[in-house]
Amino acid sequence: MNAMPPHRAVKLAPSILAADFARLGDQVAEAERAGADRIHIDVMDGHFVPNLSMGPEVVQALRRVTRLPLETHLMILNPDLFIDAFLDAGADALMVHWEGNNDLSRTLRQVKARKKRVGVAINPATPAAVLEEVLSEIDQVLVMTVNPGFGHQHFIEATLPKVRRVRQMIEQSERPCQVEVDGGIDPQTAPLAVAAGADVLVAGSAIFNETESVTAAMRRLQAAAHMTEKAKCNSG
Ligand code: DX5
Ligand code: ZN
Repeated sequence: MNAMPPHRAVKLAPSILAADFARLGDQVAEAERAGADRIHIDVMDGHFVPNLSMGPEVVQALRRVTRLPLETHLMILNPDLFIDAFLDAGADALMVHWEGNNDLSRTLRQVKARKKRVGVAINPATPAAVLEEVLSEIDQVLVMTVNPGFGHQHFIEATLPKVRRVRQMIEQSERPCQVEVDGGIDPQTAPLAVAAGADVLVAGSAIFNETESVTAAMRRLQAAAHMTEKAKCNSG
């Protein structure tokens, strides 16, 4: 009988951008009870992306209601100016974009100096190759599977080869680094991302919506992601 290879557990990172802000604490608590691995907080400044969202106060408020790691995705110009503010508010990880950053290495070092997790996000039009020089300095890669700025967008399938490429680069580097995907993730697209090598799925509208509870939505997403992962391990 063949020994079954252990399968990587896919992690879920609910994005509160789609949550009901009037009930934010309750929704995050429900996501935690339903097995969320971390909470994803989208920060937008109206310049880096054409939308505004939230700042460090939201991180601070959530820090009081959940024990989950708070992962902050900075879609802002000059992220260096806000690193301390988000970490002081209680963020456990900061994701910064490669695009528009003149000295990414300095930004990464600033986060690491505070002993927090750091990741680099790349937009759909940005090739994986830009990560080569920074891969040894980071804990996560965030592959954007939509153009950043808004929730409820369609998953861009053309980003899947890049997810595969990032996974290969990480395996070759032999360093622990997570591959996270963000945008348009739902029970239909999650299996595609997992099969391509994603180990963390960010999901906003597929988890926080009016058609089902957060718990039911998370179960459906977990089931879709884990079934793919098992199939992949069994066939590999
Ligand atoms: C988009 C954000 C995403 C967004 C995902 O700019 O970075 O995290 O919340 O939302 P859905 O899952 O609805 O695409
Ligand atoms: Zn995000």
